[in-house]
Amino acid sequence: MKDKITLITGSSGEIGENLISYFLKKNKKKIIALDLNQSNQKNKVFKFIRGSILDENILREIGEKYIVEEIFHLAAILSTKAEKNKNLAKDVNIKGTNNLFNLALSQFRKNKIKTKFFFPSSIAVYNIKNKVDDSETPIHEKSYCNPNTVYGQQKLFCENLGTALDQYGDNQKLKIDFRCIRFPGIISTNSLPTGGTSDYAPEMIHSAINKKHYSCFVDSRSCLPFIVMPDAINAMIQIMAISKEKLKNNVYNITSFSPTVLDLFEIIKNEFPEFKLQYHIDEMRQNIVNEWPNKINDSLAKNDWGWEPEYNLKDAFKDYIFQNMESK
Ligand code: SER
Repeated sequence: MKDKITLITGSSGEIGENLISYFLKKNKKKIIALDLNQSNQKNKVFKFIRGSILDENILREIGEKYIVEEIFHLAAILSTKAEKNKNLAKDVNIKGTNNLFNLALSQFRKNKIKTKFFFPSSIAVYNIKNKVDDSETPIHEKSYCNPNTVYGQQKLFCENLGTALDQYGDNQKLKIDFRCIRFPGIISTNSLPTGGTSDYAPEMIHSAINKKHYSCFVDSRSCLPFIVMPDAINAMIQIMAISKEKLKNNVYNITSFSPTVLDLFEIIKNEFPEFKLQYHIDEMRQNIVNEWPNKINDSLAKNDWGWEPEYNLKDAFKDYIFQNMESK
């Protein structure tokens, strides 16, 4: 009998490591973790494979040997890095995702299952540069989807492809069960992102805790939506657990709080009076932040699958960030 497994790509990344920790605590899923980088949880999962999502042999072998019930496809090149390495981003974000779609579709043919496919998308799919209404109005899933960044374009393309494979199937009518969340910036106490644009918030927080000053690459008025990692993990677990009939959409916004850089500085300064913030603006990254919305509307997720963040801005700092972070 073949083992039923959950595949996590990008498993050594920020979300991957936290998702695996959650699964190790909560249940006995057989996890196959795939990443280019080593993981300190590698001996705790069913199988850790050090390799690339671009290696079709690895994916073919997984598809043949196991029943792939679920895929959390987290491997990606984030926005700033993607802008600087467009070819690499195209390979990983488009070709890599397509490889994973093919693996999922093969399960429909071989094992007669519709593999549940979780895809993390992003506020990067939006571009509010020519926004006409009030800039404070939270952006709904269907509006302003005209991204300028390659990362945003690639996320949007894969969202659309995944949705089509869920609703209509491929040309042989093979299907997947595609579930996607558009994440805001994520703040985690036990890890830092690499190559993103919302990175200034976690970087500022980690610097303060480590008694370092921070040089911020966007200006003091810059504002993006954020959540903390425990809420991001809960959202992924929830959307994957809910019955398919309740999901009226394939793609959902989620959010919690939208501080400016100055708001973050003031909260941090209150806890760490020594902390100093300087600015060294990176024009490319500032432009990206200016294109992304300050606020997104997550009422679809609230209505369809009961999404509700546990942490607002105040609780995030009081009950999660300042409690869990120790200087290293
Ligand atoms: N947080 C990511 C980034 O900044 C967006 O998904 O690239």
